[in-house]
This record gives sequence, C-alpha cells and structure tokens, in this order.
Amino acid sequence: MPRWRAQAFLAAISLASAQTFPNSTTPPTNGSSSPLNNADSPPFYPSPWIEGLGDWGEAYAKAQAFVSQLTLLEKVNITTGTGWQSDHCVGNVGSVPRLGFDSICMQDSPLGIRFADYVSAFPAGGTIAAAWDRGEWYRRGYQMGQEHRAKGVDVQLGPVVGPLGRNPKGGRNWEGFSPDPYLSGIAVADTVRGIQDAGVVACTKHYIMNEQEHFRSPGNFEGSFVDAISSNLDDKTLHELYLWPFADAVRAGTGAIMCSYNKINNSQGCQNSYLQNYILKGELGFQGFIMSDWDAQHSGVASTFAGLDMTMPGDTDFNSGLSFWGPNLTLSIINGTVPEWRLDDAATRIMAAYYYVGRDTASVPVNFDSWSRDTYGYANFYAKTGYGLINQHVDVRFDHFRSIRRTAAMSTVLLKNNGVLPLKGTEKWTAVFGNDATENAYGPNGCPDRGCDNGTLAMGWGSGTADFPYLVTPLEAIKSTVGQNGGVVQSVTDNWAYSQIQQMAKEASVSIVFVNADSGEGYITVDGNMGDRNNLTLWQDGDALIRNVSANCNNTIVVIHSVGPVLVNSFYQSPNVSAILWAGLPGQESGNAIADILYGRYNPGGKLPFTFGSDAAEYGPDLIYEPTAGSESPQDNFEEGVFIDYRAFDQKNITPVYEFGFGLSYTTFSYSNIKVTKVPAGEYTPTTGQSKAAPTLGNSSTDPAQYQWPSNFTYVNTFIYPYLNSTDLRTASQDPEYGLNYTWPAGATDSTPQARIGAGGAPGGNPQLWDVLFTVEATITNNGTLPGDEVVQLYVSLGGEDDPKVVLRGFDRLSIQPGQSATFHADITRRDVSNWDVAAQNWVITDAAKTVYVGASSRKLPLSAALDTSDYR
Ligand code: NOJ
Repeated sequence: MPRWRAQAFLAAISLASAQTFPNSTTPPTNGSSSPLNNADSPPFYPSPWIEGLGDWGEAYAKAQAFVSQLTLLEKVNITTGTGWQSDHCVGNVGSVPRLGFDSICMQDSPLGIRFADYVSAFPAGGTIAAAWDRGEWYRRGYQMGQEHRAKGVDVQLGPVVGPLGRNPKGGRNWEGFSPDPYLSGIAVADTVRGIQDAGVVACTKHYIMNEQEHFRSPGNFEGSFVDAISSNLDDKTLHELYLWPFADAVRAGTGAIMCSYNKINNSQGCQNSYLQNYILKGELGFQGFIMSDWDAQHSGVASTFAGLDMTMPGDTDFNSGLSFWGPNLTLSIINGTVPEWRLDDAATRIMAAYYYVGRDTASVPVNFDSWSRDTYGYANFYAKTGYGLINQHVDVRFDHFRSIRRTAAMSTVLLKNNGVLPLKGTEKWTAVFGNDATENAYGPNGCPDRGCDNGTLAMGWGSGTADFPYLVTPLEAIKSTVGQNGGVVQSVTDNWAYSQIQQMAKEASVSIVFVNADSGEGYITVDGNMGDRNNLTLWQDGDALIRNVSANCNNTIVVIHSVGPVLVNSFYQSPNVSAILWAGLPGQESGNAIADILYGRYNPGGKLPFTFGSDAAEYGPDLIYEPTAGSESPQDNFEEGVFIDYRAFDQKNITPVYEFGFGLSYTTFSYSNIKVTKVPAGEYTPTTGQSKAAPTLGNSSTDPAQYQWPSNFTYVNTFIYPYLNSTDLRTASQDPEYGLNYTWPAGATDSTPQARIGAGGAPGGNPQLWDVLFTVEATITNNGTLPGDEVVQLYVSLGGEDDPKVVLRGFDRLSIQPGQSATFHADITRRDVSNWDVAAQNWVITDAAKTVYVGASSRKLPLSAALDTSDYR
C-alpha cells in the first residue's frame, strides 16, 4: 500500500477509538507496559470554520469578500504550494493573476531571514529567552518582521515552541525558547506580536510534540524504512505543558501554525483531526491557517478533513511534480468528496491572516531568491526557466545590530564569579583559548545551513538559520578592548595544541577559554550528531581544553556557547576556574556582546531558561536513537508527564549544578515585603452555545471540462498547478484505485452549527482564564555598588499530589540603581492557578492549598505567601 494510502487508512480506523486523549500517564498496576504505548488519537470532525472570533472580525470580513470572488481553481491555488524550488521563497503558493494577487511567500527562519543576503542574524530563541525581557522579545520580533517585510516575505516561519525542550539533547530546542511553558508562552506571544505589528504573518511551529529529530519523518534509517515517531501523551500533559505556549501564540493572534512531521498518539501531525480540529481550531479558537511542515502532508482528502489549510511546499516529495492537493483538491471538490465550504474555509483563513497583519498595505514584491545569490538567474530554480533579475540585494538590516548586541549581552548568564569579573581591560597579559573564540576558516556562512561546528558558535544548524552579514568573534572584540588599553593579548585557537595551550596559560594573568556544544535539524549530521545531540558534553575536546588551561592558570574564565545545557562537572568547582558564563547562541554581534560583559560595560542580568544538571539521565527519558519496532513508528511515551527540566529535578530531589532561573550579577539583590492582594473576579463559566453554519462562498461547477489546462499554456516543469489532465476523473486522478468505495470520517462534511467547547470561546481559550485573581508585590533592593538588572521570578505551588513542586507563573526584569529598591509587580490569572481536569475537559482550580513564591531562581525563593483561592472555585 503506498504510504499516503496507509495514512488515510489510519485516519479511518481511528474512528473506532476513544473520544479524548488518554487521561493518565500512570502505568497499569500489573506493571506490564506504558498506558501510552500505541496510544491513539480520537477523531474529531468537522473541521471548525473561521468565524472572526476575538479581534479577527475585520480581517475575516475582508477575507470573505476576497475569497468570494475566487474561482475554484484560484482557491486551490492559494492553498497549494507550487513545489520545492519552484519559486523564490522556501515555500510559495499559487497566485491569482486575474486579481493581481501575487503568490504568498513563506520564508524561514525563527531568528532572521534564511537564504538571503544583507539580513541580520539575531540571537536564537533559546538565547533571547535568557533575557527574560518582554520588551526585547517584542523588539526582536518586530525587527525580524521589518526585515522579512522589506524582502517581500509574507509569512515568517517562526517562532518556535515545538520542540518545547523535553530533553536537552533535542536537536532543535535552541530554535524555541525554554522547556518552561509559561516562559515560552510569554516569549512566543511577544515575538508573534512583534512580527505581525511589522506587517508580516508569524507562523508558530511545530504543532506539536516535535521533540526530537531522529525519526521525525517516515524514511530510511541505516538502510531500512522506519515510520515516523509517535509522541504519545495524555490529555493533562498536553494542556498543562506542550499546548500551553501554543495557546499563548493563538491568543496573541498568530496568523499561521505549522503542523509537525511526527505523529502524535499514532496519528500523523498534519492529519490529526483531534489536535487540529478539536484542540487548535475548536478549543483554542485559532482563526488563522494551518500549514504543513515541508512534505509533512501524507494524504489528500484525509488531511483536508483533518483541518490542514495549506500544503507546503506543495509536492508529495521534493520535486515529484505531484501533489496531494493541487489537481487532486480540485478533483475532490468536483467529485463531491470534499464540500466546497472546507476549501473556502482554508482559503478564508489564509486571507484572514493576510489582512489581520495588514499585508494588503505592507506587501512589496519579493526581491531575493532562496536558491541562488546571483543577481540574474532562473525564477524557477528547479525547472531552470524564467531567466531574469532574481536578487536585488536589498539591505534590510536598518540599525538592528545595536539591539542585537545589547540583547545578546542581556541574555548572557553569569554562572560563577569569584570576584575576577568584570575585568578592567588593563590586565597585563590576556590569553584567549579555543576555536570557539575565532573564525570559521570557511567563512561565517561557509557550511550550508551552518552545518558544521567550526569557529565560534553563534547559531545552531538547519532551517532555523540566517546568513551572517558578519560575525564579530570573541577574539577580535577582546583584542580590540585590550589593545586600546595597551595590554598584551594572544591566543591559541587549535584546541589540540596542548603544549602551546599549557605554555601560554602559564604566562597569562587572565585566561579566557571559549567552548561550545552544537545541534540542529536532522537532515544534516555534524560530527556524528544527526541533529539531536548524542550527549551533553562539550564539543571539540572542550573539557581537555579547559583542563589544559586551568591547570596552568589560576585565573581561568570559561565562556560557553551552546544550544542548551552542557555537563560542566569536570571544571565548575575548580578553584582555578574563576568565572563561568553561558552566552548561548548570540548571533552576529557575539564577540562585542561577550566583551561588553567581560569588561563590565554591561552588567550581566540574564538567567537560565533551563537547568544545568550533572548527568543527562537526570532530565528524564532519553531520546529514541534506534528503531524500537522494526519499520513501525517508534513509540515515544511521554510518561514523565509534566515533569521536565526543573520540575523533574524537583520531583526527584536532584540538586542541579545551576538551576532553572539562576544567574548572577556584578551586584547583589535582596528580597523583602511580599504582598498578595485578591482581585474580585466573576465565576468561571464554561463556554456554551453553537457556531453558525459553515458559510459557502462559492458554488463551483462540477463539470470537469471547466478545470482542464488552459490552451496554449506554458507550464513550468514540476510546478504544481490546479488543473486536471483529463475530463475523465479516474484518468485525471492518476490513481488506479480511484472510485473505490472509501468511507470518510463521520461528520467530516457536516456544515451545520456545531457546539462550542467549554474551555474555548475565543482565540487562546476561554477568556476568563486570563481573569486576574491576585496581584503580588515585593521589594527588591540592589545592595551593591553597581547598577544592575534583576530578573525577579514568581512561582506557584498548585498543591496537588500530581503537581510539580513549583511552576513559574510570573517574572519581571527590573533595573535597579545601587542602594535603591524597586517594586516587583505581577498578576496571577485564573489559568495560572488552574489544573486541567480530564473529566470536566476544562480548567479547574482544585481545593489543594496553593502557595506563591517570589525569588531569584527556581530554587532561591525567599518570599512566600498562601494563595486563598476559595472564592474562585
Ligand atoms: C522543515 C522544518 O522543519 C521547518 O521548520 C522549516 O520551516 C521548513 N523545513 C522549511 O524550510
């Protein structure tokens, strides 16, 4: 059976299954196997249609007006990609020339513009998260949006909150923000607002549970076929952990969401009707469109019914020239399988997102080409046709380098300091060590999609990258500072030149060692790491480098550039290691930012958005690196539930090396005077009522003759068009099984009003979840002699037996002058003190006693108070 047929079959058999996700991770008492093993995903149909909920009314009306003018072929065109490398962007849909409507352009990445020149390389998501600064998250989003807009991009393929970061070895964690859902939720919402305020649609991705690279798609593994991994989870974990930041993104108005490669409870991400129809479009009231990850669509009709709105890049496999949609979508409408309202809905959602962010006035023609840097070349790169001007080399960087430098410094976390930092710049003899201090000999963009670990690490590898306009290395920035002060500065950047390293370390008054650990997307393997990290150790012999230096210099400062936590056991307690900094993946201004910190031009205030442990096993279940069931989907059972990162360490009573939320400053802060005030709020009422019936915006002819190729049409090879090859539908389908009596999911074609979902009602979920129930204040005092920033954190103990010890529920980054105090203020919402109730299928405030804590990290919580929730239950 061809692969997509197998998928369609799977969607059909899942009809017989339970009505919700499994409701528990508790293993059966007979101890046999995980209750999640082979979990299935219940069906949910029909796919909810856009209604203009929340502030989407105007965009919805404009989109309806636009789509109402379209022919069937034009509607198919704007939902179907034109094929891999068929057009200028990493993905394009067809255009509507009759109305002067250009193809919509989708472009990576979450940290800038991929495949383009004269663009900025911003700090990665997992790095900027360490700034804990809403304003900077918004500004970064806005600036990325400005750059995309000026290049002619309609949809930026970012930000990322899936992977969330279940396991630190996950190859793409660094593209997202943090394994904490609250922190990720605020960061994604601010980023979405920023991008969209600049007039570009944000595509939040990858929905959902795309937590590792191995087996993310069906394909060959060491010579044998292995189906896509299935991330299996229960309903409570879905809501309280992985879905949480997606809800924030939807509430912030994200125009697009990309469904993921993996299966979830054994149903493929882009045709999972429960997650797309029920959860995303139903419960979360998502009004934008769902686009497939690249070739993550594995069926035609099944994915259409399961809520997919746009297929990317449009072909079944790269350059196959075939599509599950395109002509097949046309055909499925005229033969009556798919009702036209479903296609209308997909097109309306796409256009609503377009109007929601103001693309109708913001759009400029695409002025770059993803596949070539030549000024002149082929418009259709794969087909080698359409020769002409393809790259106008428009510089879209504005003055973004300033905020890139500042936010990279703001995101740097000081982990250890025995008083050596800040350096004065007047040290007599500064030695710099490590290939991470210097240039990639091939140039900063010398490895395609940054797929190597040469030179200083400032972003991971894969599609989540941008070309550096330049990359300021740590060595050049340190040299510049020391040189200006007349000091001596030298370096050894070959990590294996042991004797030269040892000799130089002996002479130095201060040694600064740069080390790193990299990861990326699974289509590139670097040093044996197939996207995911094989372990948490430093790369490039980093531990030996630190040992060689610190054994010979009692003033050794270690700077770590990494995609996430690394094991620091071999050096962090050494008295000769006088300071340690985590600088993440800082982007183009890397060297300047770290020099600003080292020399005290910027007082560090970043805090860890994840935990540094001392053993990879402390983080919970490992990634799956080998097939577990022959060619069948590896079953990845998320049995740890909501206990990832600090929640796992707290649960198992493991003392981390550096805990979540930890970070030092060149000054010190004290905490006092917690004050909790109750805010009157109405009773929580589940949403009730019904939607309207699905609108049908067109009633297209079912005559196949209307949909044939236009005469004298010059087609581009492998480009996906909406036209039929024949008036005989069986021939047009190119499917030998055409006409077999398929049964499609019950309810899939039902256009009558549908019941609303109790936990839903507006984009993001039931609006009352954001009612403020408490305000919390505390006093923070700067006790040192330098001005500095303190990231004040608020945690809540939800009090139940199954709850983590504490969960993050508020924070603020305060700048405080020496000797001065500032007031920390946070709101606690209903959602913040609720648990997901699998029976009620809603959020509830349990009667377990709840406590609020305020402090400097997840483990330094000097202030606490009871939260009396009795009035809100
Ligand atoms: C696959 C990646 O998973 C996705 O994040 C990216 O946007 C697309 N490729 C397009 O490059």
